Amino acid sequence: MSGSGSNLQSIIDNTNSGYIDAGVAVVISNVADAYGLERARLHDIPAKVVDFLSFPTREDYDSHIVGILNSHEVDLVILAGYMKVVTKVFIDAFRNRIINIHPALLPSFPGLHVQQKAIDNGAKFSGCTVHFVDEGVDTGPIIAQAVVPVLDDDTHDTLAARILIQEHKIFPMAVRLYAQGRLKIQGRRVVITPPVSVADEVLINPPLNT
Ligand code: GAR
Repeated sequence: MSGSGSNLQSIIDNTNSGYIDAGVAVVISNVADAYGLERARLHDIPAKVVDFLSFPTREDYDSHIVGILNSHEVDLVILAGYMKVVTKVFIDAFRNRIINIHPALLPSFPGLHVQQKAIDNGAKFSGCTVHFVDEGVDTGPIIAQAVVPVLDDDTHDTLAARILIQEHKIFPMAVRLYAQGRLKIQGRRVVITPPVSVADEVLINPPLNT
């Protein structure tokens, strides 16, 4: 992770409360002063910095990270605000065991600066997506999504904040489902077992009575 680490905090909090029946074994960042490292230390979780520029290739960098993860016997890798694309070396080591949170409704707006892209493209809704990580950029099978409206006066920051509130809900939920062994990947789809019923609710923006 490399942002403020609020998603990391939501995962830590949900492991501490018992909502997620698992623990955070190690936190790794490529940014030495990422606040998430401090959050980890405050919870006595090992915190490591791996400097991307110290490695000749992206694969060497990822191999080093894989070594750290394996030394901590990590089962699931959680990318929480991690801004680097992971290489095949990483994917192969943790096939179907890496999940990412993305601040848009994939497959719309993969990549970076996606809250601004949603505004600039006139989207009436945006949201966030938790997905398994594959070789593409934000292309892996989708586990969960949450939808928020895009308001006429939204800026990047106001939309990002509205989305982040939902990230803190669906990311722990997805980790919990994984820890419970309830996520089955079937091609591009993720199926939850046993099946859950989803409310047949419709969101319309602008409202029909406008
Ligand atoms: C979150 O909005 C997350 O979805 C995004 O970075 C932010 C990190 O916030 N991730 C990406 O854009 C991944 N490409 P946080 O550090 O407070 O969790």
